[in-house]
Amino acid sequence: MTVHFIGAGPGAPDLLTLRGRDLIAACPVCLYAGSLVPEGVLAHCPPGARIVNTAPLSLDEIIAEIAAAHAEGKDVARLHSGDLSIWSAMGEQLRRLRALGIPFTVTPGVPSFSAAAAALETELTLPGLAQTVVLTRTPGRASAMPEGEKLGAFAATGAVLAIHLSIHLLDKVVAELTPHYGADCPVAIVWRASWPEQRIVRATLATLDSAVGGEMERTALILVGRTLGAADFDESRLYAADYDRRYRPVGAEPRFPEAS
Ligand SMILES: C[S@@+](CC[C@H](N)C(=O)[O-])C[C@H]1O[C@@H](n2cnc3c(N)ncnc32)[C@H](O)[C@@H]1O
Repeated sequence: MTVHFIGAGPGAPDLLTLRGRDLIAACPVCLYAGSLVPEGVLAHCPPGARIVNTAPLSLDEIIAEIAAAHAEGKDVARLHSGDLSIWSAMGEQLRRLRALGIPFTVTPGVPSFSAAAAALETELTLPGLAQTVVLTRTPGRASAMPEGEKLGAFAATGAVLAIHLSIHLLDKVVAELTPHYGADCPVAIVWRASWPEQRIVRATLATLDSAVGGEMERTALILVGRTLGAADFDESRLYAADYDRRYRPVGAEPRFPEAS
């Protein structure tokens, strides 16, 4: 018996890895974080599967579900939204499973920041403008931020910020970022990236408040940085005609003559 942790992606049922889909289809038990994992993903469960929404359960209750499946020798598909490496609460579950000696695997998923960037048709790292993306959040009721992980500290680097779990604190985010990026810095908000009801607002730090209006929906990502919507950026050297590289040797004496 094995518990398969699976990144269920940003929402669209077909933004799931083939491995994730096949594991879901092979497991007689499916535990899913119902606040963000859409019903469509559950369509991959086999007929008769025990399907449990863990949104109203405590960690103890979730582990009890897994232990019961373990006792019956039934594999479990454990679904969390996006990718499992960020804000999935997988860490505490793995710690319990290790202590109980219950085997598990981990299958990555498409994170929401990738889905949001795709919706914006944007490369977040553009030569000469930004080469770093910071995945971060603001403090919440359930999770304090460690000292030092302040939005302003990340903003001081000029990196692109992908701010999760923070749409309800938009005013604070804008106030904290404006001194670092400037009021004209582009911002985009993507609600429910990849869902049928996906919505996008593009603005600047100065105009964001009025562009967003009174929007209440919380499943949203805030992206801030100079690469958003930029047209004026350098081309990468990698594809420059005169750039001598292993896969495309250039000149009479290329640096990588052995390459074809
Ligand atoms: C608990 S975190 C989960 C993050 C997830 N593990 C990931 O890889 O993106 C939930 C936050 O992720 C963001 N999020 C998740 N799905 C999203 C989507 N489809 N569109 C926009 N933001 C999303 C929102 O900021 C939301 O508040």
